[in-house]
Amino acid sequence: MSARPDSGRVVPLPLVSSHSARRSAVTCEYRCGNACAHEAPNTSDNAYFGDIVANVLSRRGALKGSAVLALSTAGAMAFGGTAAARPAPPHPESGGPSAPGTDFDPVPPNTEDRVVVPEGYEQRIVIRWGDPVVPGAPEFDFHHQTPEAQQRQFGYNNDFAGLIPLDGAGRRNLLVVNHEYTTETHMFPGYDAENPTEQQVRIAWAAHGQSVLLVMRDLARGGLTAEPSRYNRRITLNTEFEVRGPAAGSDHLKTSADPSGTRVLGTQNNCAGGVTPWGTMLSGEENVHQYFAHADRVTDPRTKRRLDRYGFNAGASTRKWERFDERWDLGREPNEANRFGWIVEIDPHDPDSTPVKHTALGRFKHEGATIEVAEDGRVVAYMGDDERFDYMYKFVSHGTMKPGGSAHARRHNMGLLDEGTLYVARFSGDSPAAEIDGSGALPADGEFDGSGEWLPLAGGAKSYVPGFTAEEVYVFTRLAADAVGATKMDRPEDVQPNPVNGRVYCALTNNSNRGTPGHAPVDETNPRIGNKHGHVLEMDDDATGTRFSWTLLLVCGDPEDSNTYFGGFDKNRVSPISCPDNLAFDRHGNLWISTDGNELGSHDGLFVVPVDGPQRGHVKQFLTVPNGAETCGPIVTDNLVTVCVQHPGEDAEDAQHPTSHWPDGGDSRPRPSLTAVWRDEGGRAGEIGRR
Ligand code: FEO
Ligand code: CA
Ligand code: CA
Repeated sequence: MSARPDSGRVVPLPLVSSHSARRSAVTCEYRCGNACAHEAPNTSDNAYFGDIVANVLSRRGALKGSAVLALSTAGAMAFGGTAAARPAPPHPESGGPSAPGTDFDPVPPNTEDRVVVPEGYEQRIVIRWGDPVVPGAPEFDFHHQTPEAQQRQFGYNNDFAGLIPLDGAGRRNLLVVNHEYTTETHMFPGYDAENPTEQQVRIAWAAHGQSVLLVMRDLARGGLTAEPSRYNRRITLNTEFEVRGPAAGSDHLKTSADPSGTRVLGTQNNCAGGVTPWGTMLSGEENVHQYFAHADRVTDPRTKRRLDRYGFNAGASTRKWERFDERWDLGREPNEANRFGWIVEIDPHDPDSTPVKHTALGRFKHEGATIEVAEDGRVVAYMGDDERFDYMYKFVSHGTMKPGGSAHARRHNMGLLDEGTLYVARFSGDSPAAEIDGSGALPADGEFDGSGEWLPLAGGAKSYVPGFTAEEVYVFTRLAADAVGATKMDRPEDVQPNPVNGRVYCALTNNSNRGTPGHAPVDETNPRIGNKHGHVLEMDDDATGTRFSWTLLLVCGDPEDSNTYFGGFDKNRVSPISCPDNLAFDRHGNLWISTDGNELGSHDGLFVVPVDGPQRGHVKQFLTVPNGAETCGPIVTDNLVTVCVQHPGEDAEDAQHPTSHWPDGGDSRPRPSLTAVWRDEGGRAGEIGRR
């Protein structure tokens, strides 16, 4: 079924997975090990009976407290569960004023098997899975893949991308891209999931990690081209990483292959990330649990409890890597699990540099990390733990940033993330709890808003969490955050400071279990039962301090539904948006949002929304991605936008029956790729969002 672009309405899509209404079963299996088909691993009772009921009791009395919980349960039936996809709302009016940088005709919701961009915009593929990266790498050959070729070619399932200029004009740049995960059933013809071959497993190890590439921007005519260069590099599951910071060398990180607990082979499930002000790339190791087998063979109850909190599963793993390297078998090497789930840092300027795992930033399912430089020069890293009912974190360095782009300054600045204080967020709403009824209806004061505090977990060798050593805080951060009563959030993805207005934004993708029986109820920060479309949080944070105020900028979904909110903007003029994931900012301070798992019957897309002035909340869709794909890693500059198109055609049963032919068309197989978009001004690249 396809869109009818003339009307802008789309035909509902069939549901293809019981896990997430719009993500395919294959995506769920290979990306996160069916995380949402399992019970969320946060079974702690903090901010559940502890905070919320106490709050209700103190304000409303015991009877009203019971009423709120009962209402949450009833509401769960009304709003939760897996509702069928239905037609997306009409194309918003394109008339009316637009904020600077957002003046284009929005792309209507659609289900086209291509990247759909606004009228007057051009696009070109920059690089695809299998294209050569390291000089001398062979061209991609789908039917004759080898680990040796893949470890020199562009990896699979590109997620975050960062652009690091090498000159003042921004013509020569380093492009750093995450390869989040492999989808073996689509990578290999005739793949037998029960009996993968060693060759296939080794290709998958080489298809994870990162790519570093030199890219040239055509500043006059638009576009971005990959070039062979000495910078070009692949980082894979075979690349050695140095573990640094306060948990380096900890007993929890020691294995038979690495008795020092300081050297780890590889990185995995690298989701989002951030480019640092000193020109390196940070990347989050996210759903690392799925690569490990046999958590049930761990007998020590304490170790077992720790593995459970991170979602490690019993039995064989999806990819069966444990058959080829016993480090993936928790029964044999339980500590190998603790060597993943970190923020890693890559210095793309030096292709021989050893990438780093920063233990001071804690261990969880890291979406990514983005940096703000405080007035006093200390650096703050904002981070989300992307799991239902998990937390938001920040890290404040002890040292201060050295300006300048020298290798010396870069080495110093990479060290900033080794020593500092790690915090987790606790939110409070300012409206009476009874006004947060789970429907998404705004409370009487007109906003979901309130205040919050950052609770310290550890700083250097000092733990602030009773019962936890500092090493335990860093390695088992989720459990430490449970103990201090952090606020359970609806899947915190990107958390990113806006360089123009200084406020911090967080994409909360969705949470099918919010407020449903047996789970944490709604609160003002996560106000919808069975939150299907997600929301975007805005914080006014004292970067190095411990207090903040917050408000919900967007409560996503169909603008025609009363349970959505678009910053107070006229909902007749906005694009529908669902499941916000990655964030970026343009030079005007507009927030760009890519989505993962649109629940409104359209393909995923990239959107822009002004956050200040009269157009605040005026969401406009800038592009959509092909069948089965997710929009990832947007880069937004004055005259170039790029997105990573992840898992195109992932609703296919296997490699022989592709459901997408993007990007090569015809009857080709889909390939995850990065594409560049620019405004064509009569053969010249014009400014994005300006007519
Ligand atoms: Fe890999 Fe949180 O998305
Ligand atoms: Ca309020
Ligand atoms: Ca993501």
